[in-house]
Amino acid sequence: MKILLIGSGGREHVIAEAIARSRQDPDLYAVMSRKNPGTARLCKDFLIADESVDAVIPYARSRRIDVAVIGPEAPLALGLADALESEGIPCLGPRLAPAQIELDKAWARMFMRRHGIRGCPAFEVFEEGDFEGAHAFIEKLGDVAVKPTGLTGGKGVKVMGDHFEIEGAKAYASELLSTGSVVIEENLLGEEFTVQAFSDGTTLAFAPAVQDHKRAYDGDKGPNTGGMGSYSDAGDLLPFMREEDYEEAKAIMRDTVKGIKEDVGAYKGILYGQFMITAKGIKVIEFNARFGDPEVMNILPLLRTDFVDILSAVANETLSDLDVEFKRLATVCKYAVPEGYPENPVKDSVVEIGDIGDATFFYSSVYEQDGVVYTTGSRAIAVVGAAQTIAEAEKIASHGLTGIHGDLIARSDIGTAALIDKRIRHAAEMRGS
Ligand code: AMP
Ligand code: GLY
Repeated sequence: MKILLIGSGGREHVIAEAIARSRQDPDLYAVMSRKNPGTARLCKDFLIADESVDAVIPYARSRRIDVAVIGPEAPLALGLADALESEGIPCLGPRLAPAQIELDKAWARMFMRRHGIRGCPAFEVFEEGDFEGAHAFIEKLGDVAVKPTGLTGGKGVKVMGDHFEIEGAKAYASELLSTGSVVIEENLLGEEFTVQAFSDGTTLAFAPAVQDHKRAYDGDKGPNTGGMGSYSDAGDLLPFMREEDYEEAKAIMRDTVKGIKEDVGAYKGILYGQFMITAKGIKVIEFNARFGDPEVMNILPLLRTDFVDILSAVANETLSDLDVEFKRLATVCKYAVPEGYPENPVKDSVVEIGDIGDATFFYSSVYEQDGVVYTTGSRAIAVVGAAQTIAEAEKIASHGLTGIHGDLIARSDIGTAALIDKRIRHAAEMRGS
């Protein structure tokens, strides 16, 4: 079996490890925009190139690839899954039309409305130039999130309170409306969690819930980032969740895959649902068409099921026949990021991996040159601890970080009892209990 992995980040290093653990001993190939040392080491062969149709297709042909895994969203937005499938290569990663659930936030919300999918906040979409309509809707809702409709790498969304007050919301909406459309929606308040699932178009296989930490500094302070770290518990739920929260999230994701199939065809890939426990129940913040980074670090290392069996089941639409299982362990992932991240990060600075104890690590936005690993300015190395409890996993991850050397910083509070207690109190407050 020849598997092609697309992408150069930490998410792809984790996926590569899962493929390398397969009992079927597949040959792994990769196309990556820069040399991720972790992924490269696991490959039989790789190509350094932009992750585009023009680069990937000839490579996939020449290596006679059987199945492909598309890690990031950018190649999905280029229609890479469609192009590979036209070559007879099935993909873990949806075609362009189903991937709109992540790629176009206006489409995603309109889709939820059309299908009556639960958890959709009050929202409206405004087209380029409709300043008056947008301003009136902001006044009407009073407390809003303003989102550009296209891909922004998680950095285009601004919410009131965090980023601005009502006049600022209008100004930001106007700025976006001068070049494109925006979604304006109610500002959801509550506690966030993520659920990731494999989908073959009909059946979903769910992973345990994970919580990411978007803010750069301890105490949830500072600017938003791609995610500074994340944790999961030994079961499916997080300490602040109830069984019904997880069941509701799964039901929403199943309804989403069903609706997508009716509208634009089978959704084959990873569906990532980001949810919020609010005073009015579970709400959907967004869907992504790929694993989360860092959230994938919490779940794939625990996957018991052979990843290659999952790939085959998605391709053959037989996921309902496969038990997708995860080890029952808690995990804590902490990202070592360049000093100054995200605003003024140190770039091209050397990273060295020393003794990280019982932790594992994944190379993320780094590149290797002449055997030396350098930062790019984005999140560099993810360190993961796994144990019976979140507290033990946190200790392992924290200790692991002491073995990562370079001009790097990390949040010290992710996975600690103090922060988790705060989450539990917050969720309880939201539910009014
Ligand atoms: P997104 O790019 O949709 O992931 O948004 C980035 C972040 O903005 C999310 O992780 C949330 O923390 C926040 N966010 C997005 N939509 C909302 C909303 N309607 N209300 C409150 N926060 C939101
Ligand atoms: N950590 C959030 C994401 O991957 O979108």
